Amino acid sequence: MRGLGFAALSLHVLLCLVNGAYSRRTSSYVRSEFPSTDMPLDSEWFATPKGYNAPQQVHITQGDYDGKAVIISWVTPSEPAPTQVFYSKEENRYDQKAQGTMTNYTFYDYKSGYIHHCLVEGLEYNTKYYYKIGTGDSAREFWFQTPPAIDVDAPYTFGIIGDLGQTFNSLSTLQHYLKSGGESVLFVGDLSYADRYQHNDGIRWDSWGRFVERSTAYQPWIWNSGNHEIEYRPDLV
Ligand SMILES: [Fe+2]
Repeated sequence: MRGLGFAALSLHVLLCLVNGAYSRRTSSYVRSEFPSTDMPLDSEWFATPKGYNAPQQVHITQGDYDGKAVIISWVTPSEPAPTQVFYSKEENRYDQKAQGTMTNYTFYDYKSGYIHHCLVEGLEYNTKYYYKIGTGDSAREFWFQTPPAIDVDAPYTFGIIGDLGQTFNSLSTLQHYLKSGGESVLFVGDLSYADRYQHNDGIRWDSWGRFVERSTAYQPWIWNSGNHEIEYRPDLV
């Protein structure tokens, strides 16, 4: 985002708490502006999950317009792997299975991992689901909660985050959000700031995906893109 107004907005995380005791309250949290230094790639906050080819950068998006489906996405870094989600309303049961698709891409000298997308549909409202992806020692388990049935008075808590990046300030912002009780994030654009690096370094997209996974694997983030999502063709600039 550009301009003073947007710059001011970009320093804020607005938590619109519209649930229960928090009805119509907005958090007063203001993210500090400087220093704004990217965390190093070997930071614990970017750690790769244990196990060979373990799923990473796990994230959920809404899978329909009604709240009865999610798309679960992840990356296997080293080689192709089955795009399967095992899930259940009961912990450790995983008796239902959804099948998805896998893709990958290259950009200049960056080669992505194997990107998996899996639609999980036919879900019940207001229900906690447990899910498992990956296999053997590399399997990982998460959960998510579906929203209440559509109703103008249905309680639901959104967080609004923009310009997150992967600095030490980004970390304090994300940690603040994790404590907020937010159930879904409306992300207003400018995700990883990988465009600060030569050729919009894909490695910094991957580190950002691992960074936000601690929230995005457990609840849907609804994405908008900003100017920092623009990828330039290196041979034309
Ligand atoms: Fe911005």
